[in-house]
Amino acid sequence: MQTVQDAAALRATIRGWRSQGQTVGFVPTMGNLHAGHQSLIRLARARADKVVASVFVNPTQFGPNEDFERYPRTLAQDSAALSEQGCDLLFAPEVATLYPFGPANSVLLRVPQITTMLEGAHRPGHFDGMATVVCKLFNLVQPDLAVFGQKDFQQLKVIERMVRDLSLPIKVVSAPIMRADDGLALSSRNQYLSPEERSRAPYIHSTLLQMRELLDAGHAWQAVEQAAHARLVRAGFAPDYAVIRCADQLTEPTGQAGERLVALVAARLGSTRLIDNLLLD
Ligand code: PAF
Repeated sequence: MQTVQDAAALRATIRGWRSQGQTVGFVPTMGNLHAGHQSLIRLARARADKVVASVFVNPTQFGPNEDFERYPRTLAQDSAALSEQGCDLLFAPEVATLYPFGPANSVLLRVPQITTMLEGAHRPGHFDGMATVVCKLFNLVQPDLAVFGQKDFQQLKVIERMVRDLSLPIKVVSAPIMRADDGLALSSRNQYLSPEERSRAPYIHSTLLQMRELLDAGHAWQAVEQAAHARLVRAGFAPDYAVIRCADQLTEPTGQAGERLVALVAARLGSTRLIDNLLLD
């Protein structure tokens, strides 16, 4: 696996592949890779001739009181894991490569509507920074397809919408959530949990399963949301939301036949904020 830091080297390698008619799959990450990320690489590997991964902890998607400084940076381990999964090229840029005028002076991309609710409401500016960096990375890599995990369900929807609205010729591929044996969705932030918190964290997944059961049993979605919120509070979580939404636009369910729904939860456990979701087919 080749590792490059600058845009010219990245483009030169990809140009070489393109000249041989090879397709390019892309997996953007913030590093600190776990089995969930590795599954994204394998998916890209299966769908494209060449796989590019980026590792970049993007400053513009963190709020002032969030964990940008303490976000784990583990490039050496990440590089070994990517190479093992069959990644061809690791792009690990400096901040100045992606933000030549500095993060505070960057062009910012705002994807309307879908970014104002849920994560967007609780993390103002997060999706602007995320969409901006993904668009910059897409411009540099110009992949045929890009793989994102369903764990960040709203992020996936924001990217799908950005790609469509900007007519980017990129197929967005979503990868299923990877879970620990006890149901906890894999996340780099799980390592912030104390052992005691880690043992309680799977409660979020069991709450999502219960939301599905209640809906299947015919309860109204509003009642299901209330029950889930109360359940999390009783277990010592501080939920930001526990909701049922339409899986496409994340708007409230309309009750129309055939509507695809998703249950989404975000809750704090101690100082760690966890998110998870479950598609309700
Ligand atoms: O999901 C992530 O790791 C990040 O939000 C992403 C897509 C790499 C953009 O920084």
